[in-house]
Amino acid sequence: MEIRSRALAVLLIADPIAKAAAAQALDASLPVDTLAQIAEPAGIPGRPERPRLVEHITLKPPSMRTPAGIAALVHAIAHIEFNAINLALDACWRFPGMPEAFYRDWLRIAQEEAKHFTLLRDHLLGLGFDYGDFDAHNALWDMAERTRHDLLARIALVPRTLEARGLDASPAVKRKLVGAGDHRAGEILDVILHDEVGHVLAGNRWYRFLCEQRGLEPVATYAELAARYQAPKLRAPFNLEARRAAGFDEAELAALQQAS
Ligand SMILES: [Fe+2]
Ligand SMILES: [Fe+2]
Repeated sequence: MEIRSRALAVLLIADPIAKAAAAQALDASLPVDTLAQIAEPAGIPGRPERPRLVEHITLKPPSMRTPAGIAALVHAIAHIEFNAINLALDACWRFPGMPEAFYRDWLRIAQEEAKHFTLLRDHLLGLGFDYGDFDAHNALWDMAERTRHDLLARIALVPRTLEARGLDASPAVKRKLVGAGDHRAGEILDVILHDEVGHVLAGNRWYRFLCEQRGLEPVATYAELAARYQAPKLRAPFNLEARRAAGFDEAELAALQQAS
């Protein structure tokens, strides 16, 4: 077996605990078939019956005054990480013709997302809840669906937009949870932020690679893709320090601040 078909097999697993374990157990020393055109099977992504997926708009921000509210926020982050496992595995199997390092990046990222999910799910158990106990939304996977036919759009809008937005959101979410007394959640968010900088860095690296290959100007192309695929509007405050560490250059950060 090679890495892309293994990644697809893990993407099809519905049980989140089994999926996270299988992702972490993927063997990074396996060869990569960079050219294989793999036919898309039904059932992507494998996901459990719970959490129930509802419209984004119907989810209220949880109150930090009750244990259930704190758990609901931890659950929302765990759900993001569950989606992130799926997104990384999907990037790994779906798009042929990239350099081998591309597939190895997304395999490593899938393993880190599985670690993030597991840390949060274990913490949730300690709070008396489990993954699936609260409603969730499907906005992250929706963007994967919309960009399934174009790797440039996928990289522009998933790692460079949605994951980068996670860098921006991290300090405020951490303040909220630690402020409510959940210090363990704060520690987990530190681990996640550290790894996520690496994920966005990989996104920036492959975005530039693809722009160069296609003779496109990165900043204007990003604006065009964000409009065409209806990317969520990014809002200040931006985590400029994390974004710089994740490889955004000053022209991109200026464009971001201008657009917000
Ligand atoms: Fe993550
Ligand atoms: Fe990530």
